[in-house]
Amino acid sequence: MAQEECKMISDKLLKYKGTVLTLEPSYDITPEYIDSIQDFETRDDDVFVVTFPKSGTVWTQRIITLIYEEDFPEKAKQITFEQMPWIEYREKGKDYSTRPSPRLFCSHLLEPLMPKTLKRKGKVIYVMRNPKDVMVSYFHFSQKMKDLDSAKSYDEVLENFLTGCMVGGSWFDHVKGWVTSKDKYNILILTYEEMIKDLRSVIVKICKFVGKNLSDAAIDKVVERATFKQMKVDPVANYESLPVDIIDQPKGAFMRKGTVGDWRNSLTVAQSECVDRALEERMKDVPLNLVWDIT
Ligand code: A3P
Repeated sequence: MAQEECKMISDKLLKYKGTVLTLEPSYDITPEYIDSIQDFETRDDDVFVVTFPKSGTVWTQRIITLIYEEDFPEKAKQITFEQMPWIEYREKGKDYSTRPSPRLFCSHLLEPLMPKTLKRKGKVIYVMRNPKDVMVSYFHFSQKMKDLDSAKSYDEVLENFLTGCMVGGSWFDHVKGWVTSKDKYNILILTYEEMIKDLRSVIVKICKFVGKNLSDAAIDKVVERATFKQMKVDPVANYESLPVDIIDQPKGAFMRKGTVGDWRNSLTVAQSECVDRALEERMKDVPLNLVWDIT
């Protein structure tokens, strides 16, 4: 293994082939396991939710598990991880290849690290968010989570954002990798902002994409349970049932503010302009409409 491919970038974060992972004792996180994900055999009805952290992962995860609720036994319905585990954070002793279908997975991995067969079988739902809101959300999240280094300032978050030294790695490589590879996958690309603007339409779109034929009333129910207000008080959405050695989080760590444009309350003009310049430079070849505000 090349030295530069794998290194600890802090006491808590491991960088491997561009992705950055938190090291948690309950998970099997090794370069060998991450490499083996590329050989994971996908199935036609597998669904992978892929995001850069703080882009609406848990929200999308909750929406999908609600859409698939009838497919899971009562006990699994109480634990999001049981219904939709993270492919890169494999619980010790678990074998995801033998999970019964339909298999739902979550991931923050860069496109080249994902299973190769996903290009032929299975579906990807990729969710992106205004990177400035991602930065602000990450700043707050890092204060709450024991397995992250608490960011001391937005300058520090900005520096880590630009150098890819945060969970997920480089936002630029992540978004660029998935967006430019979209023709190779059966993929639905969504934005956090469109979910905020019209949650029902997005849920209908997801149902159609994954082939779930829900009645209007059932869709209404999913919409209601996936609103920020409902999710904030939902123990399943908040991962409250997980033991503390897997995730020791204060209540509501994943549900903070749930708005678009919060960066305006936190970033300085200079910090915002710095992100704009980086976007212009590093995303210029990406066929992406970088207008994130909702009207
Ligand atoms: P904020 O910190 O800006 O509030 P992730 O799940 O990828 O870590 O993303 C977390 C972000 O998604 C947080 O953003 C969180 O509040 C927001 N979020 C989670 N559930 C949501 C919901 N139902 N509606 C709107 N935003 C939600």
